[in-house]
Amino acid sequence: MAFTVAIDGPAASGKGTISRAVAQRFGFRHLDTGLLYRATGRRVLNGEDAVAAATALMPDDLQTDGLRSADVAEAASKVAAIPEVRAALVAFQRRFARLGDGAVLDGRDIGTVICPEAEVKLFVTASAEVRAARRHAEFDDDTTLEEVLADVKRRDERDAGRADAPMRAAEDAIRIDTTEMSIAEAVAAAEGAVAAVWSGG
Ligand code: DC
Repeated sequence: MAFTVAIDGPAASGKGTISRAVAQRFGFRHLDTGLLYRATGRRVLNGEDAVAAATALMPDDLQTDGLRSADVAEAASKVAAIPEVRAALVAFQRRFARLGDGAVLDGRDIGTVICPEAEVKLFVTASAEVRAARRHAEFDDDTTLEEVLADVKRRDERDAGRADAPMRAAEDAIRIDTTEMSIAEAVAAAEGAVAAVWSGG
């Protein structure tokens, strides 16, 4: 029986780190669904139509370099607001969730739209200021903290404000606010929530 952990939340909330740790601890496969939108956004920056790009996406697209750049993040957030793009990516995500014993999917709409039947749902947040500071520390160019904060807020507004599958916590999601938590504390909170439901494979 497949066991699904849905982890949603805004950029730099810690959901990626938490998702990888939970997957490793429980032996589940992990899909960072943001990469699907980033890979689509990347193709659009190269001149392709957004819906055609999402429909034609191949596993290799998720391995390409540069998907973490700020330009690609912005393009990803824009294509993610197009309902036909989201529709083209649903089946792949649902199949991933149900193949094998267990899977962790992280994104914005996993607990609400992609896997509303997930056994565990987490919504990971942190203040915009703390998230921007985390992102800023990862950059080695001369982008200022203020620019990163503005980017984070713009993306939050677009992701939470779109009509189709907006970013939001499922009603039955457990909220983890990592603003004042260390990585170890946040991972422990998430692992505890999964362990409370998972009885082994
Ligand atoms: O998690 P991320 O920063 O890599 O996501 C990039 C963009 O993709 C984000 O701004 C919103 C979009 N996204 C989405 O709409 N739904 C998801 N399940 C995952 C990401």
